[in-house]
Amino acid sequence: MERYTASIRAVASYVPKRTMTNRDLEKTLDTSHEWIYERTGIAARHIAAEDEPASALGVRAVRDLMAKHPIAPEDIDLIIVPTSTPDMVFPATACIVQAAIGARNAATFDLSAACTGYIYALNTAATFIESGFYRNVLVVATEKYSSILDWTDRTTAVLFGDGASATLLTRSSDASGILAMDSGTDGGKCEQLYIPAGGSRSPVTKETVEKKLSTVHMKGTEVFKNAVPRFRQTIERVLAAAKCSIDDIALIIPHQANVRIINAVAKDMKVPQEKFFSNIEHYANTSSASIGIAIVDALAQGKIKKNDLVLLTAFGAGYSWGSTLVRW
Ligand code: ACO
Repeated sequence: MERYTASIRAVASYVPKRTMTNRDLEKTLDTSHEWIYERTGIAARHIAAEDEPASALGVRAVRDLMAKHPIAPEDIDLIIVPTSTPDMVFPATACIVQAAIGARNAATFDLSAACTGYIYALNTAATFIESGFYRNVLVVATEKYSSILDWTDRTTAVLFGDGASATLLTRSSDASGILAMDSGTDGGKCEQLYIPAGGSRSPVTKETVEKKLSTVHMKGTEVFKNAVPRFRQTIERVLAAAKCSIDDIALIIPHQANVRIINAVAKDMKVPQEKFFSNIEHYANTSSASIGIAIVDALAQGKIKKNDLVLLTAFGAGYSWGSTLVRW
């Protein structure tokens, strides 16, 4: 088969209307705005309504994308939904998105790679396009972390927010496109950041509910220690794959986990902090949705220009990590 280049054609995002600030959290948790902001860079997050599942957030993002970049829904060949907060165990949330947007010719699947989900999905979409198998792929990264948090646990509840992004990848007809990709996993440490119950290993029971085992459990210090070298490793690998240097990169858009992690990676790599885009202040960690939301904000702020080299990179539960290098 002939080989093609995959290009990011359009990106859009959606966050729920309701904002929850650190001051709001002070009313229900033994915490403070100062503690949260200094440790994480987070000031506020958006919280979805009870009747607004992850699919609904994703569909809002897709509708915005289609308003900006008209594409007939029936021309979409594949919808990938990276998410850790699917509407249901099955069918895939991607099926619900497909029905809502009328993409009747699209194949669909969800992708489980936690905060690295966007990069895994982008790399998968690009591979399908490069092989000639599909022409138009929609990546709908959507998360409702508010539904899987223990709101009495200050060590995790303050870190996450809800939101979605939609990214359309198509065959490239110019010099733009995905130049290189990298991804990896260290499954041996999966219990440092996980949801212990609710799957087949430990189905939901009265006891798991009482012990809040269907919520996010995290060893924060371990996550931090693993994230920094893995971010560096995947950034260096994707640069090597494209035979580029860090100086060639106009902007790095990392998964918005924590501003201290991002700053530690910048320091470790001796790269100016300004080269790493951050908007975590307004959204907290929206897991797989964060990079798409950040791309939209970076574009709105004029930080990405045509022909720029943009490096997208993520680390998350699994542990999993990955990067995508894009000529914009
Ligand atoms: N408010 C006030 N105090 C708090 C809070 C809070 N929200 N949370 C924890 N504390 C307390 C702890 O109980 C502890 O108190 P103690 O000393 O009396 O026991 C103290 O603060 C210090 O706790 P540490 O966990 O050591 O705090 P640390 O400085 O490591 O910061 C943090 C915690 C922010 C979670 C940090 O470990 C971190 O950034 N880890 C990375 C986690 C992360 O980003 N996860 C996101 C998901 S993974 C991903 O997206 C890649």
